[in-house]
Order: sequence, then C-alpha cells, then structure tokens
Amino acid sequence: MNEQASRESLQNGDGAADFQDLFENAPCGYLSLDPEGRITRVNRTFTSWTGHSGETLVGRRFLDLLSVAGKIFYETHFAPMLRMQGFFNEVAFDLRCAEGAVIPVLVNAVERLDGTGRARSIRMTILAASDRRKYEQELLEARRAAERASRELREVNLTLEARVEEAVQKRLRAEEALRQAQKMEAIGQLTGGVAHDFNNLLTVILGSLELLQRRMPPDPILKRFADAAEDAARRGAQVNAQLLAFSRRQPLQAVTVDAREVVQGISGLLERTVNGVATLEFKLPQQAIPIHVDRNQLEMALLNLVVNARDASPGGGRILVEGCRGMVDGSPAGIWISVIDEGEGMTPEVLERVFEPFFTTKAMGAGTGLGLSMVYGFVRQSGGDIDIVSARGAGTTIRLRLPDAGVVLPPTEEASPLVEVRPSDGESILVVDDDSAVRAIAVSTLEQLGYPIHQANSGEAALRLLQAGLKVDLLFTDVAMPGRLNGIELAREARRLRPDLRILVTSGRLPEGLDLDAVWAAGGKFLSKPFHPLELALSVQSLLDGENQLPSAAAPSHGPGTAAGTP
Ligand SMILES: Nc1ncnc2c1ncn2[C@@H]1O[C@H](COP(=O)(O)OP(=O)(O)OP(=O)(O)O)[C@@H](O)[C@H]1O
Ligand SMILES: [Mg+2]
Repeated sequence: MNEQASRESLQNGDGAADFQDLFENAPCGYLSLDPEGRITRVNRTFTSWTGHSGETLVGRRFLDLLSVAGKIFYETHFAPMLRMQGFFNEVAFDLRCAEGAVIPVLVNAVERLDGTGRARSIRMTILAASDRRKYEQELLEARRAAERASRELREVNLTLEARVEEAVQKRLRAEEALRQAQKMEAIGQLTGGVAHDFNNLLTVILGSLELLQRRMPPDPILKRFADAAEDAARRGAQVNAQLLAFSRRQPLQAVTVDAREVVQGISGLLERTVNGVATLEFKLPQQAIPIHVDRNQLEMALLNLVVNARDASPGGGRILVEGCRGMVDGSPAGIWISVIDEGEGMTPEVLERVFEPFFTTKAMGAGTGLGLSMVYGFVRQSGGDIDIVSARGAGTTIRLRLPDAGVVLPPTEEASPLVEVRPSDGESILVVDDDSAVRAIAVSTLEQLGYPIHQANSGEAALRLLQAGLKVDLLFTDVAMPGRLNGIELAREARRLRPDLRILVTSGRLPEGLDLDAVWAAGGKFLSKPFHPLELALSVQSLLDGENQLPSAAAPSHGPGTAAGTP
C-alpha cells in the first residue's frame, strides 16, 4: 500500500480523524523527506516546536534547519549512513527555530524503498531532547567536578606526603636529641657514682701519705717514693674532678666575676700551654662582662679548650679566645666565651661523641678524653649551654654560653696573703663522717694541730652528742651519710641548738637536690673532697678566726690544674 492509499483509507475509515489527530499531535515531530532530503510533509508538533509553518517547511531541505556544524556533521556522517544501512537512531542535532532560538533534538531516520529497492522517501521521528541535554550537561558538570575534586585530592595527597615526611623527620631529630641526652645522663650517673667512691679513697690516700711523711725518717729514697705516690694521687684527684664535673654533681662555688678578668688572669698559662705552636689571640670588650660561675672551673674549662685547639693545630694557625655579651634579636642572651681555632676540625662521627668521657682520638697517653666532658658538665651545671661548629679541615669554634650576672661589678679585690697554719688555741672539734677511714684522716690531721676531737659516724649520733651538752667550737661534717639526717640537716639542727657553733661541711658530690646555697643557708662553709690535710687545717683555722664570709673566703679547693695528659 502506498502513502497516498493509506492516507485515503484513514480518511475514509471511522478512525481516520483519530489517526490524523494522533499524527499531528504525537509527542514527537514527524517529517517525511524525498530521497534528496527535501521536506514533503510535517506534523503540527514539529511546527509548534520550531515556530516554522508547514508551508514554509515543505520543499526545504532538512539540512537547512541545522547549524553549520550540524550540516557538516549530517553530510559527512549521517547522510552516508542512511544511504548505506537505511537508518540512523538517536542522533543529536540542534534545530534552528523561527525566532533564532535553537532546540536540541534527537533524530531517528529510516529510508523507505520502492518495489525495485530504490529509495522512495525518508521518515524522520524527532524527539525533544531539552531534558536529556540538560541531564547530559549536568552529568558532564558532575564529571568535571569529580575530576577536579580528585585532582585536588591528589595534590593534597602529595603535599600530605611531604608534610608527613617533614613531621617524621622532626620527630626523628627530637628522638635523636633525646637519645643523646639520655646517653649523657646515663654515663653521667655512672661516672658520678664511681667518682664519688674514688673521692673518699683519694682523701684517705692523700691524708695517709701526708701523715706518713711526717713520721718518716729523713731518707731521700723513701721521700722520693712518698712524693711519687702523692703526685699520682693528686693526678687521680684531677681525673676524678673532671669526672665529677661531667656528672654535673660537683659542688660549684659560683661567684660573680668579670669574665674578662678570668680570661686575662690565665692568659699567661694559656700562652705557655700553646707554647708557640699556634698564635694565641684574645678579643675582649671594653666593658665588664659579669658572669656568675665557679671561677676555678671556668679557668679549667678554658684551659681544656685551648689545649684541644693547640693539639688540633699542629701546623700552626690562630687560636682566638673571645668573650662578649651575647645578643639575640637585640636583647642580652648570656655571656659568650668562645675558643676558635683554624686547625684540623672534626668529622661528624667525632663531633657526635666529643662530650663522652674517655672519648679521644689522641694517641695513647696523649689524651684521656675527659677535657670536653668536664667542660660540658661544668657549663650545664652552671645553667649554660655549649655549642660546637666544626668541619674537617675548616677549624673549630666552641662557644660557651654562661649566665649573665647582670650586675655592675665592684673593682676587684687584692688576693689575700698566704696564711700560715698555726697550732690550736684549745678550740675543740666534732668530726662527723660515716666513712671511718676519711674520719680517721681528719681526726689525726686535726689532733696533730692540738685540737681536742670528738667523733660521730652519723648525723643522728652527732646531734645526740650536741643535745647531751657536748661543748665544741666547730662541727666538721660530711654531707651524704646514711640515716635520717644528712650533713646539711645536721648543720641546721646544730645551729639551732648552738648559734655560735662554727660549721665546716665537706663533700665530693652533693646529693641530688642540694647545692652550696643550702650549705651556706645552714651557716656553713664548704670544703670539697678530696681535701689535702693542709686545706682542712686552713679551713678550720679561718673559721675559728672568725671569717665566716662566703663564698669569697671559701676554703681553697683544688685549683685549676692541667687536664691529665696535658702539659
Ligand atoms: N678544637 C678541636 N679541634 C679538633 N678536634 C677536637 C677539638 N677539640 C676536641 N676535639 C676532638 O674531641 C676529642 C675529645 O676531646 P677531649 O678534650 O674531651 O679529650 P682529649 O683532648 O682527647 O683528651 P684530654 O682533654 O682528656 O686530654 C679529641 O680527642 C679530639 O678528637
Ligand atoms: Mg682535651
């Protein structure tokens, strides 16, 4: 049945009007085209969508309703497809409407053939695609947003990795610093403990030798042996002092001094130490730089640093000792004392271990490895800091930061003249020490000078004697003793009972939480262990003579000596 015939039969039949209505008002546009693509027939839905009337459409080519891009698309793709396969489905086009508007549509096309197989017409069904296009647009936007988000996420991930890496590094550095600190703490505890015991032994050895020498027949050979033994014991005491310094438990006698004056005071000794191997220079400011430190220990520290600088400069060069008031961001930041050399410098491996006691790169007998340990312990115990900048072949700078006393210093006093030991005027002394050997040395030293002596082996025993009314002029007590009362507590109690009692406290290593201020607060004077009998005698004498001013009149202690193994 041909097109014309079917239309007629529709018109003639009952349902003809219905079919016509269905055709005209279907929810899609219908177009019939001739084989050349010219519109032959169009339904009302299509004309109402496009705003073109049926009359203007019939005779025009479907192509004319398309944009330029659409035309090219149609000619190159869909016209050939239609010719070859006879149809195409759901192809998206934009149709140009009457008022210049454009509507998106989906087009299905099918070729109708005649009996000989030649194209007779083309039927197009056109679906409105506004919703679908909108949906596609939204889909596209959603996809773009998703891509953007995942790109951002990737970037965040990248920086996250960098940030995590940075945090991990920071943490590793902190852990390393902690490990170092713990290592130093552990070694400090160990050396401190050993040194404490050695102090008592050395006090006994030094004291016994002294007493022995007095009773010895005047035999030069015996004297040589005794001198050698005393010499060795003193050297032992020096090593011990460095160990104690490292463990940060040595009793420090901090005073306020001008750091310039300390440096100048030992400049001669430093010159002799460097001995022309390198050129020693000093750079000190015009104004005083007051610090609060143990002067003997500071001298010892400087000597150790200069000896190290000298040993690192076998080929000569400059060694600079510099002092100044440190400034950070324009505000004072402690007193800085630096020793700078142009010597061999250190490898990172050496640098990491320099503060360890007994760590040395020097030949057997040339260094004990205690120099920097002592410096480290002293500076830290004094509330300061130490830093080292060194590289192989580029010299070394070691800087000590020490507490700024922040005061104006009075002019320095003349050193007091040497005192002679004189025999007792009959003043009596109570000697308290739990170590019977140390006690025996003190007792026989003081007895030889004619002092009547009483003894006790603990703080409680001593206090009982005083409470029972024992009359003594001076109390000489150790600090660390087993039992309820340590030496400082004993001193305090004794002072309460007898306000005029003179007190001399001795210790090699103050227990945790105690410092010399506690001794002074208890009204005592301090003598550090190991002490030589002469030092004990002088301390006792100066106390009994009424000097009770501390710390400037503090008992003589082992002054600065060269580190073992240095000239
Ligand atoms: N100024 C420096 N230049 C290069 N290396 C140094 C310097 N100071 C210290 N060192 C290195 O640090 C090590 C430890 O120094 P430290 O002063 O503790 O011990 P020592 O000098 O070897 O022995 P001691 O000081 O007990 O005689 C030295 O052996 C040396 O390798
Ligand atoms: Mg050294």
